[in-house]
Amino acid sequence: AAPARAEWTGQIGFILSAIGSAVGLGNIWRFPGVAYENGGGAFLIPYLVALLTAGIPILFLDYAIGHRFRGSAPLALRRIAGKFGEGIGWFQVMICVFIAIYYTAVLAWAGSYFVFSFDLKWGKDAAGFFTGDYLQMPTDGSLFSLAFVPSVLIPLVLMWIVTLVVLGAGVVKGVQRLNVIAIPLLVVGFLILVVRALFLPGAAEGLNALFTPDFAALANPSVWVAAYSQIFFSLSVAFGIMLTYSSYRRRKSNLTTPGLVVAFGNSSFEILAGVGVFATLGFFAHQQGVAVGELQNLSGPMLAFVTFPAIAAEMPGGQLFGALFFGALTLAGLTSLISIMEVILAGIMDKFGLSRKKAVYGIGGVLAVVSVVLFGTSTGLIALDTIDNFANNIGIVGSAVAMTITVLWIRRSGRELSGHLSALSTFRVGRTWRFFVSLLGPIVLGYMLLVTVFGPDGLIAKPYGNYAPEYVAIFGWGVVAAMILGSVLLTSSRWRYDPDRFTP
Ligand code: PHE
Ligand code: NA
Repeated sequence: AAPARAEWTGQIGFILSAIGSAVGLGNIWRFPGVAYENGGGAFLIPYLVALLTAGIPILFLDYAIGHRFRGSAPLALRRIAGKFGEGIGWFQVMICVFIAIYYTAVLAWAGSYFVFSFDLKWGKDAAGFFTGDYLQMPTDGSLFSLAFVPSVLIPLVLMWIVTLVVLGAGVVKGVQRLNVIAIPLLVVGFLILVVRALFLPGAAEGLNALFTPDFAALANPSVWVAAYSQIFFSLSVAFGIMLTYSSYRRRKSNLTTPGLVVAFGNSSFEILAGVGVFATLGFFAHQQGVAVGELQNLSGPMLAFVTFPAIAAEMPGGQLFGALFFGALTLAGLTSLISIMEVILAGIMDKFGLSRKKAVYGIGGVLAVVSVVLFGTSTGLIALDTIDNFANNIGIVGSAVAMTITVLWIRRSGRELSGHLSALSTFRVGRTWRFFVSLLGPIVLGYMLLVTVFGPDGLIAKPYGNYAPEYVAIFGWGVVAAMILGSVLLTSSRWRYDPDRFTP
């Protein structure tokens, strides 16, 4: 028989680990900029609608599948929907493989910048320092190079070692223990940062820029798409993470209430980050005597590694401010990375009957080497941006559509799953939940997917990010093709234990 599944020691361990996964780089560098560009204060309306109609319902779906069918994504989905379901599970694993490879690189940068903060090592030219001194991006316009960059390579190797050691220690002694320490630390550190930011001159202008509502934006469909995709990415739903984590919960568990805690915890952190980031940007604009709207690089890696360092350099006590910011980025990212890796390892352990140690140091080791070869070199930033975009907008959204349609339409498991969710939970779900996950979800997400690919500004019309087409073909479409190919190969290999001998 298959070996027993690991279990969280209690509700708190699970909740903190799930929050650790949800709260990531997206909360800190993605949400504030997305909200600002999509209606400011008015964005909160589509954001809340997306949270209630898709984010939380699909989060519950993940919980129900992982918990009822007690398995990693490929195992649990196989138990619902046979080989095709298993294929979707492996597709989710493959998404995690690609995300893990680049996410670790960003973490390594954040870790480096945490150390650099103590003497504001980037000096007066933060932009030049980031792409030049630090990443050593090629200046001759070439997009690919395998020249190793020691300043990135060393932190990247260290980050992988920390990650694999935590994972190797197990669900309770590694993953749960890390989150129980890291998440409270992250929240306290980040609160200090936000309070400090609020006392900077110009903070109020920053908040006005973020929260002044532009209600006309609500008439624009792309604002709604932005809200749904932010919620999706931010809650880490539909690509195996929440499914895997809930498979480690005791059989008799309240599922929905912790789910609500995780969802609202993640959104609260997101809004808190909006306040902190824009208060800081307000200070920066004030300092330069310009309006916040005239600033550049308000989201993504450039916000974190160019704008924030430049601001810290101008601020009294900028060392501490920088350390808090990059410390928060590192902790938020590390706890997310651990959850991504756990999806991969759980799938491998379930199917091939590997021990945790073998899976972590074997498979995890291979991923680490690939990640180091790709991102320990001067190619990092552009490859990362492209893989990230395709993994999220095609991979995750596609996986969500495939999973909801297969589980709810083809297998018609809606009633079984809503019954499972409600059996021991204080917050019960029924017809409304089934409507959201089986109808509204797939329609909205399917629409998003079509627009992303075939729309007037879609990926077919113009190559992503105006990069060279052959480049996007490799790091964008090539990655999607590799995800599909990987899932076909993994699905067709042999199970070490009989996956189908199982009663829910
Ligand atoms: N949800 C995380 C965030 O908001 C990101 C994440 C991505 C987490 C991929 C896990 C996996 O940043
Ligand atoms: Na998040």
